[in-house]
Amino acid sequence: MKTTNYSKIAEKYDNNQFRVDEIRFDYDLKNYIEKDAKSKYTVLDLSCGTGLYLEKQINYFDGDNINWNGLDLSEKMLKKANEKVKNVEFTNANVEDMPYGSENFDFISNNYAFHHYRNKQQALNEIYRVLQKGGIYKLHNIAIHDMPKWWVYHYFPTAYYEDLKRFWNKEVIFNELSTRGLEVNLKIEYRMENARVNDYLNHAENRDISVLTLISDKEYEEGLERMKYDVKTNPDKTIVNDFAEMFCIAKKI
Ligand SMILES: C[S@@+](CC[C@H](N)C(=O)[O-])C[C@H]1O[C@@H](n2cnc3c(N)ncnc32)[C@H](O)[C@@H]1O
Repeated sequence: MKTTNYSKIAEKYDNNQFRVDEIRFDYDLKNYIEKDAKSKYTVLDLSCGTGLYLEKQINYFDGDNINWNGLDLSEKMLKKANEKVKNVEFTNANVEDMPYGSENFDFISNNYAFHHYRNKQQALNEIYRVLQKGGIYKLHNIAIHDMPKWWVYHYFPTAYYEDLKRFWNKEVIFNELSTRGLEVNLKIEYRMENARVNDYLNHAENRDISVLTLISDKEYEEGLERMKYDVKTNPDKTIVNDFAEMFCIAKKI
């Protein structure tokens, strides 16, 4: 499978307003804290990128009983995260070989990153190792197998085939977590809508969606031209767009 070079994306990653707006208060973290009363919690945002999740949660959970951590493979993404949030322990490392002791974290969040891991089995072994007994691993990602009509695949069809090489489907994720001894609760949120192509043009132009960096420049330019042509011909043109997100809560028992 091909991998995305995040040092090329780091500067423009936060330009995509969707990423910034869609992060909400993490009720799963709140529930965990309420159910398991302790004086201190250790939270890891795995593949934290530019720190969008951490920034929002730190604002919401204002108190000093959480020890926040972020880990990412890309130095440039971490640099952006460092500019955004204080009081977070950042680590530049690969998920497949994390420099943490075993049973270190109460709660591990992992947003939009699992498909990037080359050795997913080893990533899960490591996640299991650093998670405390009773701790939660929360895996959140797009569910590409349930969204073949995503606008990205409509205009850039080869992107779908690249994504099929990177993403595990829900059955595999469920089984791999369960066989490691985690209690898994997985849900997919799906919606179908008429999307206005014009609203997505700047996302395509920004080329910050990782799969758009994996297709060839020619395929990318051709797709972009098709989008521009459609918008020029009819600024209100819509296409059927589907979108699916996976939320998987796995508890180490
Ligand atoms: C799409 S970004 C998601 C960033 C952040 N979680 C968010 O929601 O905005 C994917 C992130 O995964 C990181 N990443 C990719 N492979 C990794 C690995 N093997 N170990 C740790 N982080 C990795 C990338 O550097 C990038 O910051």
